[in-house]
Amino acid sequence: MKIHYYGHSSFGLEINGNNILFDPFISPNEKASKIQVKEIPADFILVSHGHQDHVADVEEIAKNTGAKIVSNFEIVSWFEEKGLEGHPMNHGGHWSFDFGRVQYVNAVHSSVLPDGTYGGNPGGFVVETSQGNFYYAGDTALCMDMELIGRYKQLDFAFLPIGDNFTMGIEDGVRAAKMVGVKKVIAMHYDTFGYIEINHEEARKAFEEAGIELIMMEIGKSMNI
Ligand code: NI
Ligand code: MN
Repeated sequence: MKIHYYGHSSFGLEINGNNILFDPFISPNEKASKIQVKEIPADFILVSHGHQDHVADVEEIAKNTGAKIVSNFEIVSWFEEKGLEGHPMNHGGHWSFDFGRVQYVNAVHSSVLPDGTYGGNPGGFVVETSQGNFYYAGDTALCMDMELIGRYKQLDFAFLPIGDNFTMGIEDGVRAAKMVGVKKVIAMHYDTFGYIEINHEEARKAFEEAGIELIMMEIGKSMNI
């Protein structure tokens, strides 16, 4: 599996010949100014919740690529009204796509679309594929539902927000990794704005002390996992 980092909580994954894009917020992100939105490939765009810093480039990329938008019912309906194609889900539900099996899971946060439309309840995704299984938490607080994920799914790694203020911070990120049962975490939702700037050394140390590898990808870079 190959992972590209587009900044904030946006990642592009190559899985079984498909390009899966998460929460594209690129054109308004000064830290991601080198990334050309027009060149981002996508077969599926997975959207965790309706906030601007997770949906900003969904419409443009879906138009450019013909990608299918996967999110909760309310968010998918909002994009379908713009003429885009989507697959609606809701909490607890699974669906098998070409690249793997996806479950939309709980997140403790809020969700409103940029024009004020109700964005349903916020979520995250558990993705099981023949190339590995992972949890993409979206924006969330630490919550006991993470225990359920760890109890019933075998995960290889997780994308967790660690920027604090709007989501979990570093200590709760470590707790979340333990609850979902991963030894490898890809950090997201940090440093983009002043409220979520973090001390990288402190973050790495906190995870290391818990025996968990914390990966803080450089924007515009890729890695194999
Ligand atoms: Ni949010
Ligand atoms: Mn956010």
